[in-house]
Amino acid sequence: MNRPIQIALIGDVHRQFDPHDITQFNQPHYDLLLCTGDLANLWLWEGLAAARQMAQLQKPTLIIPGNHDTLTLPQLVAEIKQWPRLRRWLAWGQSRRLRRWQQALGPVQVGGYSVHPVPGGEDVAVVVGRPFAMGGSVLHCQPQLQGQFGVGTMAESAARLCQLVEQAPQQRLIFLAHNGPTGLGSTRESIWGNDFHPDEGDFGDADLQEAIDFAQAYGKTVLAVVAGHMHHHVKREGNRTWHLVQNGIHYINAARVPRIFEQNGRTHHHHIRLTIGDDVTVTVQIV
Ligand SMILES: [Fe+2]
Ligand SMILES: [Fe+2]
Repeated sequence: MNRPIQIALIGDVHRQFDPHDITQFNQPHYDLLLCTGDLANLWLWEGLAAARQMAQLQKPTLIIPGNHDTLTLPQLVAEIKQWPRLRRWLAWGQSRRLRRWQQALGPVQVGGYSVHPVPGGEDVAVVVGRPFAMGGSVLHCQPQLQGQFGVGTMAESAARLCQLVEQAPQQRLIFLAHNGPTGLGSTRESIWGNDFHPDEGDFGDADLQEAIDFAQAYGKTVLAVVAGHMHHHVKREGNRTWHLVQNGIHYINAARVPRIFEQNGRTHHHHIRLTIGDDVTVTVQIV
């Protein structure tokens, strides 16, 4: 085994990325940064401002767009409510907004249905899942996904992800998604559990789960699955599980929101460190 690979995991940003982050992530120990997206809260300009900050990173950085990235507020509401006609109409202009967002990110790579080798990590790749995921196994932003990737249904999304796994030359995989997979619990505190409906439930995405299962059945080693979207703080009160190991896979929900916070009169910045050596270790970094 060579030197361990160190990867910084940044959860949903929601406007919180500042010069202190640039300094800490530009330090030499990290090989790669992965970000689960959601740079904005509600407005494109918020996302562009955070993107311009992230563009100053000198480390290889990979981000997946979340449901708060490049959607307008009415579009987001139409997606949540699943109004079919409005979802289609309001998707107009999303490709243009995505191009601006991508431009603002500069050297940061925007992933989506893509495979990226890990720098310094022989035989390790990151498989990036479906952009704009909002959970509950609904194919959100279908017009954009159809136009950009030719993916129009959940089954097509799962098939595309499995194809990426099959084609990846690397043996060891990390999945990066905005929302996590199904099958990891159905209470409000579960890692991707529903905390906004009284019936609770599993709010993971079935296409991602299918790709992970496929990867294992195909003989790949899935080291970790990194996603966010379901923020750590659950509605009303409590915290969700943010890390668990199942069938040898580390599942990590990196979405501590806000990721920059005050405690005992000091400002803290949250991220997670994923170390891949002889073993895989996951540690919270509050700096
Ligand atoms: Fe989200
Ligand atoms: Fe979020």
